[in-house]
Amino acid sequence: MRRAVTVLMVSGSLRAGSTNTALLNTARAVAPRGVDAVLYAGLDHLPHFNPDADQDPLDPGVAQLRAALSQADALLFSTPEYAGALPGSFKNLLDWTVGGGETYGKPAAWLNASGVQSPTGAADAHASLRKVLGYTGVTIVEQACLRIPVARREIGPDGLIASPAIREQLVHALGLIAAQVEEARCTE
Ligand SMILES: Cc1cc2nc3c(=O)[nH]c(=O)nc-3n(C[C@H](O)[C@H](O)[C@H](O)COP(=O)(O)O)c2cc1C
Repeated sequence: MRRAVTVLMVSGSLRAGSTNTALLNTARAVAPRGVDAVLYAGLDHLPHFNPDADQDPLDPGVAQLRAALSQADALLFSTPEYAGALPGSFKNLLDWTVGGGETYGKPAAWLNASGVQSPTGAADAHASLRKVLGYTGVTIVEQACLRIPVARREIGPDGLIASPAIREQLVHALGLIAAQVEEARCTE
């Protein structure tokens, strides 16, 4: 039996009704067979990154983040842009990933839930995300990096997005990420 592919998903938004989080929750709901899509839920509890604190004993939130990254085969991000940049809390998480080494060599992709005109389409945040991920050693799965605009009205009371077109794109992205993991496994 094939081993499941675990994709750790991280939303860059802490907002309760976040379109980015809804996109990832929907990805979890529609994940193809053999893909275990897990949403990271600890963003709000990470301490501010401080290189002096990046040693044992680690803060429990940081230890939990690194354990989740270790267990993941691949990563999927979805983030808004705030004032022309990544949200501070999300950049803080990324800073904690740099020193740990758990992300090294893992396939990663990102989704962009912003529309092209809202107001900059989160272009700077995603350019920055690409740059920061360059320091974490991930392998970017370019074809799985998709803009999937989500309007707030599209999120149902269950927190999920019902749109078949959006769901199809999520399945596609997860499928590409999983294929990359499987390919790497074949060469192990
Ligand atoms: C303080 C603040 C600053 C923002 N700055 C930008 C920006 O620079 N560029 C952009 O495209 N959107 C910007 N936005 C819009 C958010 O990215 C947009 O509302 C997004 O949908 C929020 O994501 P969420 O639904 O996952 O919380 C900003 C929103 C807030 C609250």
